Amino acid sequence: MTGLDDSDVVRRERFSGGPARSFLSSLDADERIFEADLAVDRAHVVMLAEQDVVSDDEAATILQALDVVEVEEHAGLPAGEDIHAAIETSVIDQVGPVGGKMHTARSRNDEVAACIRYRLREDLLDAIEATLLARESLLTVATEHTETVMPGFTHLQPAQPTTVAHWACSYQQALARDTARLFDAYARVNQSPLGAAAFAGTTFDVDRERVAELLGFDGVLDNATDASATRDFLVETASALATLATHLSGLAEDLVVFANKGLVDLADDYSSTSSIMPQKVNPDTLELVRATAGDASAGLNGLLTTLKGLPRAYNRDLQRATPHVWASVDAVTEATEVAAGAVATADWPEEKLEAAAGEGFSTATGVADLLAASGIPFRTAHEVLALAAETAEEGGTPSYDLVAAAAEEVLDEPLSTYVSEDAVQTALDPVSNVAARDSLGGPAPETVRAHLAEATEDCSGDEAILDCLAESLDAADDDLREEVTAYV
Ligand code: ARG
Repeated sequence: MTGLDDSDVVRRERFSGGPARSFLSSLDADERIFEADLAVDRAHVVMLAEQDVVSDDEAATILQALDVVEVEEHAGLPAGEDIHAAIETSVIDQVGPVGGKMHTARSRNDEVAACIRYRLREDLLDAIEATLLARESLLTVATEHTETVMPGFTHLQPAQPTTVAHWACSYQQALARDTARLFDAYARVNQSPLGAAAFAGTTFDVDRERVAELLGFDGVLDNATDASATRDFLVETASALATLATHLSGLAEDLVVFANKGLVDLADDYSSTSSIMPQKVNPDTLELVRATAGDASAGLNGLLTTLKGLPRAYNRDLQRATPHVWASVDAVTEATEVAAGAVATADWPEEKLEAAAGEGFSTATGVADLLAASGIPFRTAHEVLALAAETAEEGGTPSYDLVAAAAEEVLDEPLSTYVSEDAVQTALDPVSNVAARDSLGGPAPETVRAHLAEATEDCSGDEAILDCLAESLDAADDDLREEVTAYV
């Protein structure tokens, strides 16, 4: 429905034709802000009536026409350059010239900025909810697997044994910051530009705070030029989403690698197969989660590139800024929900994980720590274990004898001068090796359990904040409807 076959009230006859008309129109893309625009129109008209800029009867007439627009939905709108023009055209078509009073003391510039902010609030709350879902999945996995040892990797090589819980908590903690970043973005999105008009305010006695209140905005953006022209709230949102998507891509990649090594079994629901190789179980879903970071970072880049160098005040470039964020928020929210599901349904094969945990002499650092704790300088202990690792690489199994031989060569005295065989055996065991790393934030089961208690509480706290924000939007919506009903 990009058609501009008939001129709308803004374009009139002079601007009604030409080959660029569908290029110019945002009407299709504006479907996303259909409800937002109705709310913005209603709040504006109620305020105009309260300020005696329009009479109560005029307000009632316009508000009734807006009800008809709502019933006829976006598809029922007349042609128009954008949704703002189309709704106004419909109102004037229905009620005659008095409908033209709706656009008193405003511009499409503050109007569209308000509509984007109004709709984005809802999308941000959905994105935040998805992060909470993913965090809950990770916390559940962590709670079930505080004792499940697994190999930990750096450079994709076995590095030190860790636990499934410690791995899961690492992503939970990152996603908690994503939740926080989205809440921060929400606070700046939830400000009203209405009343800024084109960019330079208005001669009418508007009550900007009142419109903000009617729409559930937390406050008013003061300077009218900034209020109508800025899209930094889009940048902030797109950036928080791109950061979240980047975390998810790491999580997805880990699961792809773990699945490849047989360290995790992904549920069939989150896997796919090959059209030719019937035996294949491929982690396609997670590969798509991984790819979403590309879309999200492209969206952020597209947005910033569009905004760069735009002069004050409104420029039509801004019409092409918004869709980057709609695309990002949809893709990233969906990817977050999918990642949450994949984590929640994955199976961690404990025996296999434990068997793999010590591979590649991953206990070496723990043994070096033990020697260092017994008085040997850490650098010398590192040398002992490096020599032991070299021997292990040549085919020896990491063992007390191997470490003792290396120690004697480096230290020129028996290892037993420093530590007992028992202590070394313990450090060589992946389970005890992990248990010994009980520094703050370490993987020792006790340490992770303490972390989990706090992380679970933080997650519930964020859930309560989310509920509160959603409720205040619903309440504002109810209040606005009541105000409107008082007129019609
Ligand atoms: N469709 C436009 C947008 O998305 C609305 C604002 C048009 N304003 C203007 N002065 N041409 O930005």
